[in-house]
Amino acid sequence: MTGKITTANTRIPASTGIPANADVTQRPLVAEPLTLPCGVTVKNRFYKSAMNEALADRDCAPTEKHVRLYRRWAAGGAGVLVTGNVMVDRTQLGEPGNVAVEDERDLAMLRRWAAAGTEHGAHCWMQINHPGRQSPITINRSPVAPSAGRLEGDYGRFFANPRELTRPQIHDIIRRFATTAGIAKKAGFTGVEIHAAHGYLINQFLSPLDNHRTDEYGGSLENRARFLFEIVDAVRAEVGPGFPVAVKINSSDVPTAVKVPRSADEADEKTPGGFDENESIWVIKRLSAMGVDLIDISGGTLEKPVIQTNSGAKEDEARGVYFTDFAERIAGTIDTPIALTGGFRNAVGMEKALSSGVTQMIGIARPLVVKPNLPNLIMNAKWQGTVRLPWITTGLKALDKAFGGILVISWFELQMNRIGRGKSPDPRIGGLRALLFAIRQHGIGALAPRRRKGHQ
Ligand SMILES: Cc1cc2nc3c(=O)[nH]c(=O)nc-3n(C[C@H](O)[C@H](O)[C@H](O)COP(=O)(O)O)c2cc1C
Repeated sequence: MTGKITTANTRIPASTGIPANADVTQRPLVAEPLTLPCGVTVKNRFYKSAMNEALADRDCAPTEKHVRLYRRWAAGGAGVLVTGNVMVDRTQLGEPGNVAVEDERDLAMLRRWAAAGTEHGAHCWMQINHPGRQSPITINRSPVAPSAGRLEGDYGRFFANPRELTRPQIHDIIRRFATTAGIAKKAGFTGVEIHAAHGYLINQFLSPLDNHRTDEYGGSLENRARFLFEIVDAVRAEVGPGFPVAVKINSSDVPTAVKVPRSADEADEKTPGGFDENESIWVIKRLSAMGVDLIDISGGTLEKPVIQTNSGAKEDEARGVYFTDFAERIAGTIDTPIALTGGFRNAVGMEKALSSGVTQMIGIARPLVVKPNLPNLIMNAKWQGTVRLPWITTGLKALDKAFGGILVISWFELQMNRIGRGKSPDPRIGGLRALLFAIRQHGIGALAPRRRKGHQ
């Protein structure tokens, strides 16, 4: 296949387009099946990454819109569709419109969602999460965290001061992850992904910035990772050996610096003391030894969110495929398949990443909202372009600045909502409409930051 990545620091460009000499006539690597450690085979390498659909009803139940959206994605050809994060406790939501699964009350609707997401031989895996302190005050006045402590800085007022979890409460949350995974399996989801990234509760336990505990869940890396490892063990015990269990984890809490307007200075700042790359590699190796079926590599949290600006394609051009350098560090050191997520925008970038061995699956999120059938288009060589994500703007600088992250999220939520209503995505829709949509859907609180700081 096309060019091999052999050197460290090789950058996989997201937006270069397909070069004239690229051979797109042979069967692409991205169309090859992959057998996971648990013995399950997925039909190709497209891994639709989790995006909170914000489509749940007021009781956090899935709706007909989930069914339509996932039917459309399944028809689009991806091998694995990971759901948006589903919370294990309905009193602890991360964003408005989250689905929560803590018992079987919504089993019938979950079954319909899973059935739609597994059409055409696709896998549909439920992403399972607990937000911890990253739960905005507009939806949660009583968040929990590994340690208490008021948030410093401008964003402090948007997040209530969390209560420190007691050990019985920690054990209860571990049990909840297992319960949710068991219900997902019963409903017909064909795998689960545990969300240990992006600053949510498991990431808070991993990070020495958030975790100041002095018991067996804090201190050394082994202790900080204990919460994650116990969740993985509990989930595996619940779903059994032949069922895919994936983990989404940060390469570090400091994603790659992005050189784009408005964020360059910010991106050059570091977050000293967060969960770092060496720690992440240690945790990933342990997860691999524990028999996890796939590691989904992402990054970003407290100070530096995974999507750093609202500039779309411009950010992609600056960054290329996210976290490639980190994936190169672990390539070949573990047998567990990797899904590298973020920044894949064209077939060439995907083929390069797969042929280099830097990843075994192509984690892809926003492009599948604007082009739900992208996997089939690429696998059938019917489209050879580069997905250019829009610069999402209200047309007013001050508004863009104030709501950068919410703009991006709201715009993609609006598009998923359209697909959920049986319509097509409409890239011409502007940022102002996305903000108004968010207010209509979730109330004025939708405009409060949903992450602790930054854009996404
Ligand atoms: C609207 C929206 C919602 C998201 N929700 C989640 C989520 O629930 N869980 C998660 O792990 N990542 C979430 N993400 C991050 C994506 O999974 C992915 O890591 C990120 O968009 C980068 O991939 P991309 O460049 O292919 O879009 C979300 C992203 C967007 C745009």
